[in-house]
Amino acid sequence: MAHRVAVIAGDGIGPDITAAALKVVAAAGVELETTVFDVGADRFLRDGHVLDDDDLAAIASHDAILKGPLGPPIGDKQIPGGTIERGIILKLRFALDQYINLRPFEGKGLEFVVIRENTEGSYAGEGGFLRKGTPHEVATQGSVNTRHGVERCVRFAFELAMTRQRRHLTLVHKTNVLTFAGDLWQRTFNEVAAEYPDVATAYNHVDAACIYFVEDPQRYDVVVTDNLFGDILTDLAGAVVGGVGLAGTGNLNPERTTPSMFEPVHGSAHDALGTDKVNAAAQIMAAALMLEFLGEADAGARIRKTVSSVLATNPVPSTIGDAVAAAL
Ligand code: IPM
Ligand code: MN
Repeated sequence: MAHRVAVIAGDGIGPDITAAALKVVAAAGVELETTVFDVGADRFLRDGHVLDDDDLAAIASHDAILKGPLGPPIGDKQIPGGTIERGIILKLRFALDQYINLRPFEGKGLEFVVIRENTEGSYAGEGGFLRKGTPHEVATQGSVNTRHGVERCVRFAFELAMTRQRRHLTLVHKTNVLTFAGDLWQRTFNEVAAEYPDVATAYNHVDAACIYFVEDPQRYDVVVTDNLFGDILTDLAGAVVGGVGLAGTGNLNPERTTPSMFEPVHGSAHDALGTDKVNAAAQIMAAALMLEFLGEADAGARIRKTVSSVLATNPVPSTIGDAVAAAL
């Protein structure tokens, strides 16, 4: 039976790279029944809507979501900053309880995975203003960490580490300064670790991890961290393995009670639109992750291998999608 996939093509280069990814999936022989959802910057400019409840309900009835990058051009003045990001991307992650952000990185001889907590931390929207607009204005932005949220994320990371050859898991945080959130993460990590004696563990402060990612990335196998540290570290990780243009990501609901969402780590790159710099590799990798999550492990692995071999020939970025589809 065809998998039912909700498609959000995205803004900027999104529609091009999403079309390329769907072409690659078809070339790999996997049948999808797609529903295209009109959400993104264009829709917002047209009717002021980001993601309505009926959009959300319709999307939720699918097996998975393939999403392109969303967001207006950098410097855009028509859409208030963050409207699209919070109104669509974060809303989907939170509403569909996609609590794991799985970010695998491969390239330059490196292969590691970052597990980013995806529903809490500084992204939760806790905080507010006092005396806004006055010289004595106060802004707070809390980081929300629940035992439930941290533990399910840490457990997922240990389970993933168990499936890998090195069975190594590093917790990244800032326990020396973030004494409440860091303490909860560290205690939870240590307690769960006791259930996984076969997984070797390490801890890095996030600032030190930034140095290691650049100078000694081989040390990493699986990394687990909170939402904001994970956001920043995975852009760095993308750059370290050869460019964030190659990184696909899965926003997972591991229990499969709601659809998981697959997207590129990079943004909508409006400036590349129509040029030969439009690179579908990350979106194709996202589609491969989606297939693997949908039980099409074989097709997913074949796509990922083909992307690697096509990239090894240094192609013009805009030709990658066709080249991968042809090679399959
Ligand atoms: C990402 C993006 C998003 C995030 C933005 C667009 C809200 O940077 O997926 O990494 O911060 O999570
Ligand atoms: Mn990011």
